[in-house]
Amino acid sequence: MSFYSPVRTNASEVAESDRLHLLKYAEDPNQCSIDTYVQRGGYGAWRKALTSMKPEEVITAIKDSGLRGRGGAGFPTGMKWGFVPKDSPKPRYLICNADESEPGTCKDRVIMERDPHAMIEGMAIAAYAIGSHLMFVYIRGEFAHCADQVEKAMNEAYAQGQLGKNIHGSGYDLDMIVHTGGGAYICGEETALLNSLEGLRGMSRIRPPFPAVAGLYGCPTIVNNVESLASVPHIINRGADWYRSLGTEKSAGSKLFSLSGHIKQPGNYEVELGFSLKTLIYDPKYGGGILDDKKLKGVIPGGASTPLLTPDMIEVGLDYESLPEKGSMLGSGAVIVFHEETCIVWVIQRLIHFFRHESCGKCTPCHEGTAWLEKLINRVESGKGEEGDIEKIDDICSNILGRTVCPLGDAAVMPIQSAIELYRDEWEHHIRHGKCLVKSQFGLK
Ligand SMILES: Cc1cc2nc3c(=O)[nH]c(=O)nc-3n(C[C@H](O)[C@H](O)[C@H](O)COP(=O)(O)O)c2cc1C
Ligand code: SF4
Repeated sequence: MSFYSPVRTNASEVAESDRLHLLKYAEDPNQCSIDTYVQRGGYGAWRKALTSMKPEEVITAIKDSGLRGRGGAGFPTGMKWGFVPKDSPKPRYLICNADESEPGTCKDRVIMERDPHAMIEGMAIAAYAIGSHLMFVYIRGEFAHCADQVEKAMNEAYAQGQLGKNIHGSGYDLDMIVHTGGGAYICGEETALLNSLEGLRGMSRIRPPFPAVAGLYGCPTIVNNVESLASVPHIINRGADWYRSLGTEKSAGSKLFSLSGHIKQPGNYEVELGFSLKTLIYDPKYGGGILDDKKLKGVIPGGASTPLLTPDMIEVGLDYESLPEKGSMLGSGAVIVFHEETCIVWVIQRLIHFFRHESCGKCTPCHEGTAWLEKLINRVESGKGEEGDIEKIDDICSNILGRTVCPLGDAAVMPIQSAIELYRDEWEHHIRHGKCLVKSQFGLK
């Protein structure tokens, strides 16, 4: 049985490159077998870390590499590992966040489906660096095939002595647990994930304390994204300086981008950070242009929770610094493209429906606010909006932004505020004329 989803990648370009690395074997199903993985140098970084590096040296290498978390926030990975208290008598845990539920994001899935040992090897190195003897991978409930694939790879790793007791004669023990979630977006937020893993309802926790100090069962815990962890073996193998030479000065390395929407060639593409968004959309090697050769209307560059960009803003580097300069964010790297026949009010209606449904209900601004927003936006979209609704929507957004327990509140409102700012004429047309501007322009029903 094939575990592959038929998603396009730029694996052949990556295979020829000395710099790109994550998708090198993404089109070869043999890569999932531990024998092939090891023949190609796999688990070499794990052996190197375990037998010739102290945990602090691993942390220093990751710090020096400039790797930043690929789960959305872009927090420096080595720095996070360094927050685990050195003198804590409690057990430490490493968790790989494979919940991947951000709309548009499907990059971690490709790693789990096509190169699961890369993720496990990165997890093992991270666990060793923080002094953990038990690591978990928390996989999105709907990704049953990924869980099967990862479990199969984990069993192979145990059988070959890459996991278990006295690994490579080092005296170091490490176990792994595969856990599937129930399918809630909020369980990708690291503290809700911890609750879910403990068997509690998936609701975010108030911070501080941060998980690195008091996480799973109150013990020091590091949560990292699949792609962050899959990057680690490459850094250990090839060195921090090599990794830092990729990408831009402040955004080092390469990154997977999930390209979807009205695009000719949707897929997962690995490029160096700082790569041009415009090239990703139009170059025949990647997106190949807008579906049916229509005009571009807008782009969500980093997953459903990031502000929109208009066509005149897409000459921008895909990195942690350049996108904020244009008012958006890199997020999880999910680039969603809309062509000219898309009603932006409708897009926002779909997004707020998602965020309202996924709010965990713990804090009032998010729980109540997203429900009000959905009601108001439904009213505007359906042509029953009233004068003042746009201001009301914007005001509710401002009262949610920065006032919630976890970032889901911000995630829900940032695309709305940008859509009002950048496409205000469409909102006004819905209210003043009781119908959609785009449908009228294109004679659509
Ligand atoms: C609502 C919400 C959903 C999230 N979903 C995910 C997810 O599916 N996968 C992920 O790695 N991070 C997700 N995150 C980010 C995590 O909280 C956390 O920052 C990340 O797992 C840390 O890993 P990194 O430092 O390697 O990026 C989410 C955050 C929020 C607020
Ligand atoms: S912001 Fe929303 S999802 Fe996050 S804790 Fe508050 S209610 Fe829950």
